[in-house]
Amino acid sequence: PVKVTKICCIGAGYVGGPTCAVIALKCPHITVTIVDLNQARIDAWNSADFALPIYEPGLVEVVKQARGRNLFFSTDVDKGIKEADLIFVSVNTPTKKSGVGAGFAADLNYVELATRRIAAVAHSSKIVVEKSTVPCRTAESMRTILEANSRPGCRFDILSNPEFLAEGTAISDLFSPDRVLIGSLQTQEGKDACGSLSDVYANWVPKERILTVGLWSSELSKLAANAMLAQRISSVNALSAICEATGANIDEVAHAVGFDSRIGPKFLRASVGFGGSCFQKDILNLVYLSESLHLPQVAAYWRQVVEMNEYQKSRFSKTVVDTLFNTITGKQIAVLGFAFKADTGDTRESPAISLVRDFLSERAYVTIYDPQVEETQIWLDLAEACPTVPLELIKKQVTIVKSAIEACKNKEAIVIATEWKEFREIDWHTVYTHMNKPAFVFDGRMLVDADALRQIGFKVKVIGRGERV
Ligand code: NAD
Ligand code: UDX
Repeated sequence: PVKVTKICCIGAGYVGGPTCAVIALKCPHITVTIVDLNQARIDAWNSADFALPIYEPGLVEVVKQARGRNLFFSTDVDKGIKEADLIFVSVNTPTKKSGVGAGFAADLNYVELATRRIAAVAHSSKIVVEKSTVPCRTAESMRTILEANSRPGCRFDILSNPEFLAEGTAISDLFSPDRVLIGSLQTQEGKDACGSLSDVYANWVPKERILTVGLWSSELSKLAANAMLAQRISSVNALSAICEATGANIDEVAHAVGFDSRIGPKFLRASVGFGGSCFQKDILNLVYLSESLHLPQVAAYWRQVVEMNEYQKSRFSKTVVDTLFNTITGKQIAVLGFAFKADTGDTRESPAISLVRDFLSERAYVTIYDPQVEETQIWLDLAEACPTVPLELIKKQVTIVKSAIEACKNKEAIVIATEWKEFREIDWHTVYTHMNKPAFVFDGRMLVDADALRQIGFKVKVIGRGERV
């Protein structure tokens, strides 16, 4: 196998940035250059005060150690490609918004453009690694494009190396991954390329955690892992609806169920619905794949995981309206948390967006606080979620503030949409004093101590708990 000494990563986003920063940290003998077309993003990665474009615990420390040593960020995509022996393609693959497969299929335009760029500028052989999450057989398309456009004497080996990090814990996930998955063609050249990439990870990942499989299995395993994780959440959320209707408690049910060693305790937290850039997109991608393969029952099975999630979000909005005496028109609601989970500033598919949209359509006034999400991002998300409402009108109904206490002042209700630790530590006595009465708390993340809040005087509704308020 070729010994890798220069790596280029195309795409400096949530995956490319942290992943390749950690490779640089753990492999000081390898030069890692992360390239992107987005100048602002690269400038932020290079900023003197380490104001990085994404918030991820532990990331700044990694970048501080490696940047300028063997880690570089650049917009010179061509130079990055030319110099590297191994190239990660880590560009975005969002759900298609129009054309064939709109609403389901992954938009592979960015992957294709990056691949064509590699073919156009490479003067020497490269190992090209598909890091983005893609439908099965994308590696085959990449190989066709590369081979059809390559210079004489240049060979391209394609690997699939999907990423399993979760946002908010990306650095610890990368430091000690459950597994690293590498898919390759089962030819000698394919296995050699796989060996080269394995050797990179072997600098810090135990050998037995590096799994090598065929290309298509690798691509499908990524979609499968996300589909099964999301399925657990939709299952527990479906049960949370039964709990609320019967007086059972989803915490207790999940705890009892998770004690079965075959099921396990993780990823069984009921919530207002899952968000994030991956779960919905990857399941819809799997649905589309199943339909393309003429497997309608399989498609319907996975589609239901997303439908249950939509139901969970709208069910929560409805609980708020029902509990506030069947109308929230003109009422003041504080929404705590806008990110799709704690410890990230990412809002992609955040359930908070759906909640705020629902509250706005009921003509409530909404005040939002999130410790990490930028104000401009919130306006972008709300404008996209309410395409028929001009932004000036949205701005008349929505206020964004800088603290939880400020958000809750003079409100009728508080809605907890993200499980930020600081919301657990709010001074609820002070909050209660400054709220309109009766003061309601709707906890979509099972975060607060409901009994303690009731003692103060709050009326509390927690997802998955049957108590009356
Ligand atoms: P992102 O949008 O944060 O980053 C992608 C970057 O690629 C952007 O900065 C964009 O400017 C850049 N880019 C696009 N086309 C380019 C081109 N032709 N040349 C150079 N740069 C280009 O996306 P992300 O969240 O990092 O996700 C990337 C991929 O990883 C997706 O396929 C996603 O499904 C997958 N993934 C994401 C996560 C996650 O937690 N976010 C986890 C695992 C896998
Ligand atoms: C997910 C996968 O976990 C990761 O392996 C993959 O690489 C990318 O997609 P991510 O979306 O970053 O990661 O975060 P994750 O922790 O999986 O949470 C996704 C959503 O599910 C969040 O909105 C979270 O709040 C929600 N969730 C998670 C629950 O509602 N309940 C749970 O028990 C776990």
